[in-house]
Amino acid sequence: MFPRFEQQLQQRRQRLERNLNHYLAMLPAINTQLATVINYGVLSGGKRLRALLLYSVGDCLLLPFEQLDAPATAVECLHAYTLLHDDLPAMDNSPLRRGKPTAHIKFGEGLAILAGDALQAIAFSILSQPFVESISPSTQLAMLQELAATSHGLCHGQALDLQVTSATTLLPETLTQIHYYKTALLIRCAVRLAVFAASPPILDQLPDFDQFSTALGLAFQLQDDILDVTTDTQQLGKPQGHDQQCGKAYWHAANLTIAKQQLQQLYQTAFQNLKRLPYNTLPLQIFADYLQNRVY
Ligand code: IPE
Ligand code: IPE
Ligand code: MG
Ligand code: MG
Ligand code: MG
Repeated sequence: MFPRFEQQLQQRRQRLERNLNHYLAMLPAINTQLATVINYGVLSGGKRLRALLLYSVGDCLLLPFEQLDAPATAVECLHAYTLLHDDLPAMDNSPLRRGKPTAHIKFGEGLAILAGDALQAIAFSILSQPFVESISPSTQLAMLQELAATSHGLCHGQALDLQVTSATTLLPETLTQIHYYKTALLIRCAVRLAVFAASPPILDQLPDFDQFSTALGLAFQLQDDILDVTTDTQQLGKPQGHDQQCGKAYWHAANLTIAKQQLQQLYQTAFQNLKRLPYNTLPLQIFADYLQNRVY
């Protein structure tokens, strides 16, 4: 990877974390234990890929950071909520996340559930505050609706995922549907929020952005499932082989060669879709290439 690109990612992660700290510090910490778990859920590591993607769309559209900070921060809070709940015993029952004990292991299930609930609300709270004048109230409402529809759809994806057991015969199209709802929707949402943040919003190009982000989102989850098999626990920060251990009959875990081919096709589709956009999409090409080469 180019050192300048890596440096840029680092600076953006720092920017995001400053904003997260800023928003969290403004919240009333009525119960300090819960406040601790909220902080643990959203501030202890994470690759910040959805926020970084949102900033990369901003690069293509030549948008200033100020127009992107609130949506980027909101998306990361929503993502952190989904992870807290995804790890719970009633869902994936995972003991490790981002190289640390999961929130329910460290603080108990009740607080992990509540911290997830709070982070979902915090995401909406951040996005609903007035942030820059160039974003009109109606655009901001559209952004909030987008986040709400995404959050709802994601729950459906997680519910579909819950139905997968070791006894399931999972058709490829069913798995794609699960990947679409549980993961690709939020990745699409990150891209959409940046597109909405342009002033005026460039809605004509939304279908082309969606085609790109959907392929990228499907690739992201397929890659996550592959990495679950191929990356060791220390590097992954999650228990290697956990999907199989919890009885998830994801067919591609047993067919890595085919899964990797499919992954490559999805990335190719994403790159092809970028070509249709009438912008300098090099920042998104570089970012998608970075995702394609990730090992955890
Ligand atoms: C994990 O997402 C959940 C999936 C949708 C696969 P990430 O791999 O982006 O998790 P963090 O935020 O970097 O920990
Ligand atoms: C999670 O998928 C998708 C979410 C909506 C959180 P996974 O269950 O595969 O994510 P990890 O592997 O636990 O991060
Ligand atoms: Mg899961
Ligand atoms: Mg999981
Ligand atoms: Mg996974």
